[in-house]
Amino acid sequence: MADQKRRDFIGMVFGGFAAAGGAAALYAMKRTWDPLPSVMAAGFTTVDLSPMKPGEFRTVTWRGKPIFILKKDHTDLKKCDDADVKVGEGDYLVRIGLCTHLGCIPAWEPGKQIFKCACHGGEFDACGANTFGPPPRPLDIPPFKIEGTKLVLGEEGPEYKKLVGKA
Ligand code: FES
Repeated sequence: MADQKRRDFIGMVFGGFAAAGGAAALYAMKRTWDPLPSVMAAGFTTVDLSPMKPGEFRTVTWRGKPIFILKKDHTDLKKCDDADVKVGEGDYLVRIGLCTHLGCIPAWEPGKQIFKCACHGGEFDACGANTFGPPPRPLDIPPFKIEGTKLVLGEEGPEYKKLVGKA
């Protein structure tokens, strides 16, 4: 009887070691498969929009592409209810700054409130819509999410899904 109990105890101890070893092996494998933090961070660009003034235009870079950010509120800039992004109290146009014709980088002309592409004369309005010349469609919207006053480029948040009709 005592022998049986001893064998049960030893079996439980070995079982415990085996379970702990298996869990440790799974954890080690997961660490190996997960991308490095530096690789994960490389796909995202975070921009704090709070310092931007009304009417200000900025270009930031995300995955090697120019991203246009135009702050709309409290100015005579055209607001675009179905194209702007609301962040805090401000409305912003956020678009990939590559012409949808052949990929040149249009320039923002604040006096005319248009993005003008020097390559073949294409134009986009302050809502990102193609309004003149060969561009076949509006400026593209980069995947983004909003975190407080920050724009995080590279992840599809609810605001992005609403804009592109995925929500
Ligand atoms: S690349 Fe912009 S109009 Fe052709």
